[in-house]
Amino acid sequence: MAHLIAPSVLSADFANLQRDVEMINASQADWFHVDVMDGVFVPNISFGFPVMEAIKKYANKPLDVHLMIVNPDQYIERFAAAGADVITVHYEACTHLHRTVQAIHAAGCKASVALNPHTPVGLLKDILSDLDMVLIMSVNPGFGGQQFIPNTLHKIRKLREMSALIKSDLFIEVDGGVGLHNTAALLQAGANVLVAGNAIFAAPSPTDMITELKQVDGSAVQ
Ligand code: DX5
Ligand code: ZN
Repeated sequence: MAHLIAPSVLSADFANLQRDVEMINASQADWFHVDVMDGVFVPNISFGFPVMEAIKKYANKPLDVHLMIVNPDQYIERFAAAGADVITVHYEACTHLHRTVQAIHAAGCKASVALNPHTPVGLLKDILSDLDMVLIMSVNPGFGGQQFIPNTLHKIRKLREMSALIKSDLFIEVDGGVGLHNTAALLQAGANVLVAGNAIFAAPSPTDMITELKQVDGSAVQ
């Protein structure tokens, strides 16, 4: 499967949100990555339902909603109703992760779990067959424009090995510090969904950057 590109709307110009959503619509991007931060789980506050609904109004591609919030269970149905297609909750924020994953599926969405940089992938072994995607954080969550943590590559390789035995069609998404400099290595390690915020929105042409990220060949020997 060709890899997917999910531009992070967090790096968009919120005063020109419709323009940036339409740029993504017309580009080769596959999903909209929507970062919701509550100021408790992470030391930053991004946006909530009104902004997400505004994105949904114009977006013509799936919304990949990354919940960096405590107590996500409380809001699963509302995020589904607001237009989420994929819902990611953090492993570190869920006491009853299996129940949360069931609730995401019951709401009609794909279920995904995010791991912070310090959380080992092995902790997902007994729930992997229930997941559609795992999001591996390659920075500490909370802000765009941070530097990629190299150990992420080991985690992706290990998760791809685990998933080959348990769930071979697992999406593995990487989020944080992704750009042209590390895309080939991430794909070779086994990732197949790449989130990029700063790399896309700070580029001279965000549309061309999306095309370039999409065209990286992960099978090529580096
Ligand atoms: C960070 C967010 C990311 C962020 C990525 O907490 O989850 O999605 O927007 O931004 P870049 O690509 O700039 O690191
Ligand atoms: Zn994110």
